[in-house]
Amino acid sequence: MLKIDKLNAWYGTSHILQDVSLDVDRGEVVSLLGRNGAGKTTLIKSVMGLVANTGGSVAFKGRQLLGLPAHKRYGLGLAYVPEERRIVPGMTVLENLRLGILASDKAKHEAEIVERIAATFPRLKERLHQEAVTMSGGEQQMLAIARATASDPDMILLDEPSEGIMPVLVDEMFALFAQLKREGKTILLVEQSVETALAISDRAYILDQGAIVYAERADVMLADPAIQERYCAV
Ligand SMILES: Nc1ncnc2c1ncn2[C@@H]1O[C@H](COP(=O)(O)OP(=O)(O)O)[C@@H](O)[C@H]1O
Ligand SMILES: [Mg+2]
Repeated sequence: MLKIDKLNAWYGTSHILQDVSLDVDRGEVVSLLGRNGAGKTTLIKSVMGLVANTGGSVAFKGRQLLGLPAHKRYGLGLAYVPEERRIVPGMTVLENLRLGILASDKAKHEAEIVERIAATFPRLKERLHQEAVTMSGGEQQMLAIARATASDPDMILLDEPSEGIMPVLVDEMFALFAQLKREGKTILLVEQSVETALAISDRAYILDQGAIVYAERADVMLADPAIQERYCAV
């Protein structure tokens, strides 16, 4: 579904990603792990069209993404939950969700989509008319995820969704990712909670200093604490 081949990315003269190759098959959950500063966010932003200077190949459903503007990439069935959640202040939960629906061509099915989201995210259902930024950080993150799934994407890219969130909500969030996987969604997950991420993943890649240093089945990596210690300790 997503095939990255020899991706390079630069910020000014800093060469951040160096010949990164990675793929995610339809229906897979793949974790992208690595220390702070390894280049995980840069990789996701490169896929979404948010890094100005990139080279190599990023194909999604067989279509070359590099060179396409960001808004065109969303239209192909990609959704992105950024590190910073971008919940809009002054808007209710429902209004924030509407932004996700508007971003797709499904605006006319709004009632149906809101109903489906409310069934999946009971915490949001109770708070549809509450101002979104008055919710806890974890609830806002759930909203960011709900908003990203509102367009019924084929693939979701999640950048450190559990960061700064209390454990009970992290469990709920990962149960939700497992459910999205059962529904056939494809997921690329960047996480610092390595064990939690591996537990729901099929495979994982480790990025270190802008290069892939390790690629393995998730269960194999889970059984290898030395690798996690070496490349994933913050
Ligand atoms: N907008 C930017 N301009 C310049 N350098 C950046 C920018 N964003 C990130 N970097 C640098 O790129 C490297 C990779 O960062 P990032 O992709 O955010 O890593 P990670 O998400 O793995 O923590 C780091 O050295 C970081 O300082
Ligand atoms: Mg990051």
